[in-house]
Amino acid sequence: MDDEILRLLKGPSSAFLSGQEISHRLKVSRTAVWKRINHLRTLGYEIEASTRSGYRLIQSPDLLTPLEIKPILKTKWVGKKMHHFHTLDSTNSKAYQLALNGAEEGEVVIAECQEKGRGRLGRHWFSPPFLNLYLSVILRPKIPPHEAPLITLMAAVATADTVQKFSGLLPLIKWPNDILLRDRKLAGLLNEIHSEMDRIHFVILGIGVNLNMDEKMFSKEIRAAATSLKIEMGQPVSRKAFLQSLLSELERWYSIFLKEGNMVILKAWRDRAHIKGRRVKVTSFGEVIFGTATDVDSDGALVLETADGKRKRIVAGDIEYNRKVKS
Ligand code: BTN
Repeated sequence: MDDEILRLLKGPSSAFLSGQEISHRLKVSRTAVWKRINHLRTLGYEIEASTRSGYRLIQSPDLLTPLEIKPILKTKWVGKKMHHFHTLDSTNSKAYQLALNGAEEGEVVIAECQEKGRGRLGRHWFSPPFLNLYLSVILRPKIPPHEAPLITLMAAVATADTVQKFSGLLPLIKWPNDILLRDRKLAGLLNEIHSEMDRIHFVILGIGVNLNMDEKMFSKEIRAAATSLKIEMGQPVSRKAFLQSLLSELERWYSIFLKEGNMVILKAWRDRAHIKGRRVKVTSFGEVIFGTATDVDSDGALVLETADGKRKRIVAGDIEYNRKVKS
């Protein structure tokens, strides 16, 4: 019923709507309407009440509910069906379950808060309520499974472009798919695939973006290495507006990938990562390797030249940058 009341209050005129009118339209008592109005207030909706004129919506909170997002969405199909939750273990886990049960391409899972937000390499993704963005998009690309890493590169490009368009700041993609501002991590991607030998059933694109965190909200361990858009822009940002923009960029880049293929995505990724020629320290499966990055290949693997001139492909791990030696 909350949604229906809001739909009425958000109607074409921003004038008052009487309690009687609402109760008549929704076929509930005026007391029931009054209770729901109070509930909406607890969610952050500012609703003016007047004994003579009824109720009027003054301001909506920055919630990521379909009711708030749908009217501003500019996509054709990404996010047209949205599953919104106050709290989830992980949006990726929920999206995976939904996809197993037949959810369609473009369906999106969003949570205001995650209790077991998952990061790469089994790490935890800090996901406090109402501050950031935690979402998972279900895709069903008709490509062979070995091309799936391109989807991850595509999503990193889309996220980086969203940050740039939204803030005017220039983000850097750090292999494999961290989005950095001022060398600090702003966003991370965790993509999961369900496939058989020659066919992908679905891919879950899991994206976490730090939007309105203050520095002191990050744990001591990650404080120096993490940032948020609020910190970088010096002002709070609208989560709704960022989400709207991110879904548009994902739809745009995914259609570029499907139409124009791998090389366009690889080039876009390389242009935003500036990794070629950088001295890196790689930690991969407990091993530490130093070398110069020569490329990222179409499997998403990092290609390194080690000090003894050998070529090494790294498929998973973390990197730290050293001094730039070549460009
Ligand atoms: C990383 O380690 O950099 C990846 C972080 C990915 C976090 C996002 S938040 C939404 C989605 N759900 C999850 O549990 N993880 C991803």
